[in-house]
Amino acid sequence: MTETILVIGSNGQIGSELVEKLREDYGSNRVIASDVREADADTKARGPFIQMDALDSKQVFDAVKKNNVTQIYMLAAMLSATAEQKIKLAWKLNMDGLLNFLDIAKEEKLKLFWPSSIAVFGPTTPRRNTPQHTIMEPSTVYGISKLAGERWCEYYFQKYGVDVRSLRYPGLISWKTLPGGGTTDYAIDIFHEAVKNKSYECFLEADTMLPMMYMEDALRATISLMDVDASKVKVRSSYNLAAMSFTPEMLATEIQKHIPDFTCTYKPDIRQQYADSWPQRIDDGEARADWGWSHDYDLSHMTEDMLMHIQQTVVH
Ligand code: SER
Repeated sequence: MTETILVIGSNGQIGSELVEKLREDYGSNRVIASDVREADADTKARGPFIQMDALDSKQVFDAVKKNNVTQIYMLAAMLSATAEQKIKLAWKLNMDGLLNFLDIAKEEKLKLFWPSSIAVFGPTTPRRNTPQHTIMEPSTVYGISKLAGERWCEYYFQKYGVDVRSLRYPGLISWKTLPGGGTTDYAIDIFHEAVKNKSYECFLEADTMLPMMYMEDALRATISLMDVDASKVKVRSSYNLAAMSFTPEMLATEIQKHIPDFTCTYKPDIRQQYADSWPQRIDDGEARADWGWSHDYDLSHMTEDMLMHIQQTVVH
């Protein structure tokens, strides 16, 4: 079957890179990028783009039908720190957005990907080697919306047979597109500041350990989960997914191996609370066993690659 793939949130941190990767695999015209914000001319020249609001179900339905879409990646969401400032709006986007696409997937019999997060866990969850199935009492609006979303995914799968697949992403580290409004964003900002100014003031404490992943790995995980035979996808809420865990201090030390005079200071703000409610290291054994997930990038490999790319962008 010829696939036609729609990526919602294509201007965002994951979307912008996922579109590129999918186009390498499927061909430019088979992957439709879409975002609520207009795309720049460069992006539009690279393949089809539709400007639309993920909450406008009629427009989305029309676009899906008109283009004979067979798979959707629904990536539009508000991250943890921004969501705490706009709680109702975050709930609306994170929840109504998902429900819209679950309905479309049900009606049109499409395959759907939706991202969950380590934020589904909360202060009562075991923080080390957090199992797939465990106590989940998230204390952020973002986490509450992701946990509810996971339950909706499982519900649509059980009740209507919707082929929905999901991953609990750790903090995602990338150099191409900046994230916005997340708690794990420090692990990206630090690289840009290290290259530009050789110093960084971190908004988390030095010893805050969180699960993290390099974007290359996250994209590979996402596409492999979507490509695998449906019978292998045993978890229909969302899979734990892991690669590495580190603290700001460990990351700063790693950066110093390349930029010896780099200094990092620590001035925690409200985001410390969100980070403290999340696990330090999660157990992704089910993803590894069910569909063969394994990561490539560890802390040193990721740091090397990030610095190389950011240094290149600063020079050019
Ligand atoms: N990266 C997200 C955030 O910091 C967590 O999933 O909000």
